[in-house]
Amino acid sequence: MAKCSAFLVNVLFSCFVSHVVGDACDFNVRLTQVLLNDGFHRNITYGIVFNADDERAKWMYQGCLLGIDQMLPRGVYANPDELEDLKRQNRVQAISKKRINVEMPTEASEPSSVYVFGKVTSSMVYLWLPVHARYHRARTGGGLARNEISKPKLYLRCPDQRLDTCHKDVTPAVFLCNGSSKEKCSWMEVPYTLMSSTPLIWDVPVGNTDHYYLVAGGTASVIIIGSVYLIKTIHEYKLREKIKKQ
Ligand SMILES: *[C@@H]1O[C@H](CO)[C@@H](O)[C@H](O)[C@H]1NC(C)=O
Ligand SMILES: *[C@@H]1O[C@H](CO)[C@@H](O)[C@H](O)[C@H]1NC(C)=O
Repeated sequence: MAKCSAFLVNVLFSCFVSHVVGDACDFNVRLTQVLLNDGFHRNITYGIVFNADDERAKWMYQGCLLGIDQMLPRGVYANPDELEDLKRQNRVQAISKKRINVEMPTEASEPSSVYVFGKVTSSMVYLWLPVHARYHRARTGGGLARNEISKPKLYLRCPDQRLDTCHKDVTPAVFLCNGSSKEKCSWMEVPYTLMSSTPLIWDVPVGNTDHYYLVAGGTASVIIIGSVYLIKTIHEYKLREKIKKQ
């Protein structure tokens, strides 16, 4: 009899837990990823919307930290110095995973990855990341080079153990706690519904080597003509001086 009731309590309890927690861990997150501005310097913005209708879901993410892991193709980079400045101004909390050489052309660069952090203060979080296009080596015909920015990975980290019950819905990962310290923390990858089209497309103009030879040829002609003129002037001047002395 005692055994039986213990069994019943267990069943009821797991049923209760899976009902309350199971639903709450289903954050029903929607993410919008947009590329703003034009030219070689642009702005990736992220709108992250949690399920706000469900009061039970709210306590699961309020006060937590969001981490975005954004892969960037080799033709695009985030400038570490700029990210440092933005961090000091408290505008963006972001850090590049690897060292970035901002001078390199696309052909000599590797894809990179950036973490963007933000606090969950309401059911809507907006984050942004300034990005820059690398130059491509000039080629015959010039044209456009296409950069494709994939959708990010989304992570959540809370100041307590509340997400530990969500293991079945989320995948754990370990990386930086935030953009300001080297310390590592445990994060949960959160699935989401993407509300924008992916990948983001960014076409940049490529220098035309045909123009290059034209420009180089033009420059050379100007230099030669200028030099000849200069030599001629100097020569005439010297000649005049000579005549004066005689
Ligand atoms: C990027 O876009 C966000 C959101 O619209 C805005 O707050 C931010 O100032 C923009 N940053 C730059 C550098 O344009
Ligand atoms: C970043 O994380 C570290 C380690 O958890 C913490 O000591 C520090 O206060 C955090 N900094 C900010 C700005 O949140």
